[in-house]
Amino acid sequence: MTFPQRRPRRLRTTPAMRRLVREVRPQPAQLVLPLFVREGLTGSRPIESLPGVSQHGLDSLPAVIDEAATAGIGGVMLFAIPDVRDATGTQACARDGILNLAIDVAAKAADGRLVVMADLCLDEFTDHGHCGVLADDGTVDNDATLEIYGQMALAQARAGAHVLGLSGMMDGQVSAVRAVLDDEGFTDTSLLAYSAKYASAAYGPFRDAVESQLVGDRKTYQMDPANRREGLVEASLDETEGADFLMVKPALPYLDVLADVAAASAVPVAAYHVSGEYSQIEATAERGWIERRAAHLEAVTSMVRAGADIVMTYAAVEAAQWLKENS
Ligand code: PBG
Repeated sequence: MTFPQRRPRRLRTTPAMRRLVREVRPQPAQLVLPLFVREGLTGSRPIESLPGVSQHGLDSLPAVIDEAATAGIGGVMLFAIPDVRDATGTQACARDGILNLAIDVAAKAADGRLVVMADLCLDEFTDHGHCGVLADDGTVDNDATLEIYGQMALAQARAGAHVLGLSGMMDGQVSAVRAVLDDEGFTDTSLLAYSAKYASAAYGPFRDAVESQLVGDRKTYQMDPANRREGLVEASLDETEGADFLMVKPALPYLDVLADVAAASAVPVAAYHVSGEYSQIEATAERGWIERRAAHLEAVTSMVRAGADIVMTYAAVEAAQWLKENS
């Protein structure tokens, strides 16, 4: 009879041993919670396709920020839904636009306890739902969009956002926004580039959450799910253009891309466990088919193991609690 030369199971024998040899230990401070603020809403309104997640009014936002800060998470990412949308997304740049008002409220409520980030993209503000403005032929006009992103960035920086999340996948968006911010003296406003953002089926619940008007798809600007190398091209361009953070999105179907980007990047890398990934866990857990807490923690752990420094998840506040209990 031959015996195994090595017995890796020895290191799995007890909870104490497993705890000792664990390779990654996600922390609450790495987590970022996406938040939805709805113009005109009083209190909060649940989002059906994102169980446990709500749209918030400006009035209920401070309590949510306070809860997030108390949980010890690292930041929040604000998205907003305006009452009025138009072809160029005017409300995105308006001083009293809902996102800019929400940034101000959130920054004051956070009071330095967590990082306030804001989504810098036009899709919530355009009546056609695209992430940029349209040319006469109906295609998304990259360079005309960059002009508006610059103005939107200024509005967000003035409102007090610490980090701007460039999620529109326009070429040159990082350098365009950086130049405008620097010109106006906002040299400390950081840029988080959604570098490798794929045209994914997993954004469905998010589009409900922001009441998206999109007809068609975003395949001329978001990446083809088949392309791994291209993720590195996007990431290195963003880093060269001056991005302070890079992001890969969605997360679990793209851990290969995340690992590539994390290995190549000199700046912090984030992963976004997107709405469809979150709701897949929620829906299967609701049926009793998987264990909710374990599934969310496994997702967070996997992103960190693949190289994420920062994890965006709708479960951030609960996950922070679970991580503390498990540590
Ligand atoms: C677009 C944007 C999207 C998400 C965040 N910002 C995707 C899209 O609508 O194409 C998706 C996030 C999620 O699904 O949780 N600017």
